[in-house]
Amino acid sequence: MNHDVTLIATIAIGLVLAFIFGFIAQRLRLPPLVGYLVAGVVVGGAMPESLADGGLAGQLAEIGVMLMMFGVGLHFSVADLLAVRRLAIPGAAVQILVATALGVALTLTWGWSLGAGLVLGLSLSVASTVVLLRALEDRNALTTGNGRIAVGWLIVEDLAMVLALVLLPALVGVLGGNVPADAAATPQQGLLLTLVITLAKVSAFVAAALAIGPRVLPWLLREVARTGSQELFTLAVLALALGIAFAAAELFGISFALGAFFAGMVLKESELSHKAATNSLPLRDAFGVLFFVSVGMLFDPAVLLEQPGMIAAVLALILVGKSVVALLIVLALGYPASTALTVAAALAQIGEFSFILGGLGLGYGLLDPAGFSLILAGALFSITLNPLVFAGADRLIAGLHASPWLRSRLEERRAGALARLQAELDAAREQAEQRADAQKTFTPEELAERFPLFANLTPEQREVLVLHFQPHTAEPGERVIRAGDPADALYLISKGEVEVTVDGVRLKTQGPGDFFGEVALLSGGRRSADVTALDYSRFARLSGRDFHRFLRRYPEIHAHIAALAAERQGNTPRGPGGMVSPVPEGARP
Ligand code: CMP
Repeated sequence: MNHDVTLIATIAIGLVLAFIFGFIAQRLRLPPLVGYLVAGVVVGGAMPESLADGGLAGQLAEIGVMLMMFGVGLHFSVADLLAVRRLAIPGAAVQILVATALGVALTLTWGWSLGAGLVLGLSLSVASTVVLLRALEDRNALTTGNGRIAVGWLIVEDLAMVLALVLLPALVGVLGGNVPADAAATPQQGLLLTLVITLAKVSAFVAAALAIGPRVLPWLLREVARTGSQELFTLAVLALALGIAFAAAELFGISFALGAFFAGMVLKESELSHKAATNSLPLRDAFGVLFFVSVGMLFDPAVLLEQPGMIAAVLALILVGKSVVALLIVLALGYPASTALTVAAALAQIGEFSFILGGLGLGYGLLDPAGFSLILAGALFSITLNPLVFAGADRLIAGLHASPWLRSRLEERRAGALARLQAELDAAREQAEQRADAQKTFTPEELAERFPLFANLTPEQREVLVLHFQPHTAEPGERVIRAGDPADALYLISKGEVEVTVDGVRLKTQGPGDFFGEVALLSGGRRSADVTALDYSRFARLSGRDFHRFLRRYPEIHAHIAALAAERQGNTPRGPGGMVSPVPEGARP
């Protein structure tokens, strides 16, 4: 094959086979993910060496990981995590420790090195957020209390793994792996110093991301969205996700995954985060699929025949060991058995982080390819079996409910803890919604409903227009517009009432659905009247510059507003010379 088309061939063959096997998996009522992994195994086994060496596929997979982590960041709510922290943080921490220890103990009996055991143990201790999110979506349980606990738990695990990914390279020397060439060239640093430098770099990145990100990124997205170009918006989202991930890796030595996760998390604060998530979804899906395919490519089916016992042990650790640990922790913390069983089922699989960790261990010579294949086999089987595990958990819950004694002891008496947590989650969500509401003026639909002026705009046009408004409030008696001032904005009234006066004489009162401030903007002169709030009022403010831009784009609306302005001007007493000129202060009666 012509060497120049290797990339194209990898993508094309990967996507085609993933589609075929994903479809078959779906038909067999298995997660499509299983199909993607199998497609990878087929590609890996059947393709010529030049295509299946995993190099290119590995890079495509890395893009997939970046985009998936960006997606996790986009959905990651700090408030949700804080609400479940008392359960998720100790739970995830203890569970990772125990599972890793179990993994190390298991591999010691096989005669593996401590480094290899540690990599395997850590890989097995972390469940896949991607798999969990899909499982919860399928069960419609994403927004239930138990679902949110499981997601919070996995996010804590992800964060712990991000730390492990950063620290592992620093520990390679101690654990007996191959120290990378560039590190070997520098004078040997103490482990402590390496750790301190690594943590300092991570902190510098996190501080920079959190200090600068929320100010710059949402603003940037907003400006791009205001242009009304979908294409440019999608491009901006991807450029931010991949650009920040790449810059984080180059400047701070941080993994692409962590960089992308933070890019997503910072953008989550923007009111456009939904749109960003939707627009990046197709690419995320495509590269996510390539990630699973490339993982399958690395899998060597021979391991199934050579090491069935080891695979069974690994699988037992994932399906039974981890679940039992999680189950006990949740019960020990006083939560109902149904919560414990849901979390346990959610954790009984491994996925993307396990591959990344295992791959890293492989790269540093800590783990041999056979060890990596064990992780892959564990993932392949545990993901495939996960729906069954969930079904088993459902059975157990039902069985438990059937027995009044168990039900009262394991469910009803413990319901208070779950209810408190649920209340905290709801409060957190409500607060986040309120904050978002304070930022918002109207939804595009409200704009059309309340202001007939905009009724003829297409939904996309309204969506863009809404982005140009800024919320503005006034208390009773507050002057919103002062006669004689230069014009700077148009105001749409969304709540409350205002009165229009000239020299204290009331001309008119206006309420929701009305607008004011157009006369001076159109004439280029001064404000023709005072506008004062009579009530607690909320407005959507459109700056003069945006107002003129908007009118240039929509001549009919221009004509409509100009006609109304002319009518109002006709009813408004004027100063001499026809120009709107306020009576000088001293001349007022
Ligand atoms: P502007 O002159 O920019 O600032 C004061 C606003 O009050 C003006 O635009 C109109 O929107 C509004 N206004 C002025 N005169 C009247 C009127 N007679 N009836 C209703 N609104 C008016």
